[in-house]
Amino acid sequence: MITNDIAQAVTALADGKLCAIPTETVYGLAANALDERAVARVFEAKERPADHPLIVHVATAADVTEWITELPKWAIDLTNAIWPGPLTIVGPRTALASNSVTGNQDTVAVRVPSHPIAQELLSQLKTQGVKGLVAPSANRFGHVSPTSAAHVSADLGEYLDAHGDLILDGGDCQVGVESTIVLATGSQPVILRPGAITAADIKRITGVDVSEHSENAPRVSGALDSHYSPTAQVILISDGSDIELESNSGFLALAQAPTPAGLVRLASPETIEEFAHELYSSLRSGDDLKLKTIYVVPPRGDGLAQAINDRLNRAAF
Ligand code: TXA
Ligand code: MG
Repeated sequence: MITNDIAQAVTALADGKLCAIPTETVYGLAANALDERAVARVFEAKERPADHPLIVHVATAADVTEWITELPKWAIDLTNAIWPGPLTIVGPRTALASNSVTGNQDTVAVRVPSHPIAQELLSQLKTQGVKGLVAPSANRFGHVSPTSAAHVSADLGEYLDAHGDLILDGGDCQVGVESTIVLATGSQPVILRPGAITAADIKRITGVDVSEHSENAPRVSGALDSHYSPTAQVILISDGSDIELESNSGFLALAQAPTPAGLVRLASPETIEEFAHELYSSLRSGDDLKLKTIYVVPPRGDGLAQAINDRLNRAAF
């Protein structure tokens, strides 16, 4: 059931139910991180493999010490500057973080979302002894992440309704791509998943160089070669591409690129931020229109453009 009632969502989550919640990035399928049965049902609902770890969402930056034993100074500077916001930190876990949450790893991922409804929900739950919510993106495993309550309902509505779980509607997600995940177990930040908080932001805030990849980086399911995929085939093309385009296909590009003859325009974002915001809803609308193919001209540049390219490459794989 879709609801606007935060109090109802608080009661449901404190009771061991699941509730899809709005965040500034994408919708998450939330459960009390300390309730093993509820956490197990998150995996069941998403059909997510058990060894893919979850992100724990907490109300304030101070709450991170419940879940992570210690962080280097650069990571504390970073979280103080960005949280609440679209950043996830991976650090050594405390005893609160169970194996089902961490996928048996000795680290745990934590984030403080900035969406006002998520903020309100987390602080009310804290007063009831719920110290964190796990919340993977509220889509079927491998599918496009949801940026509206309707997207969640399309993927998981049947399961959630059958189990008396909820979807808390907070409108469209502002950012549109998942949080930046930063490994914070060493002297340098390692970006495990690019997002709205960029390597340049991290360098500017911490004064420390960012290493983009690490040999022994832990598992990140969003880093599987194929992920974020609609049913339609996604094909990446360059601006002014002279390859033969199949008609009746979808087209997504920045507004300045004209729609090739015979194609269905899915969105015309004016900026990189708008591109991220409309990315997943465009891919989903291609499926709603039963298109076989969606052609995408990926935006150029670093920062958020990199996060969009990361998701598009996996959608197209
Ligand atoms: O923006 C977001 O982060 C959204 C919203 C709902 O908060 N959540 C999200 O969750 O994207 P999910 O489960 O779809 O992606 C979480 C990623 C996964 O790729 C997972 O592998 C990684 O976080 N992760 C979780 N714990 C980890 C750990 N201990 N080490 C490395 N990666 C971890
Ligand atoms: Mg996901």
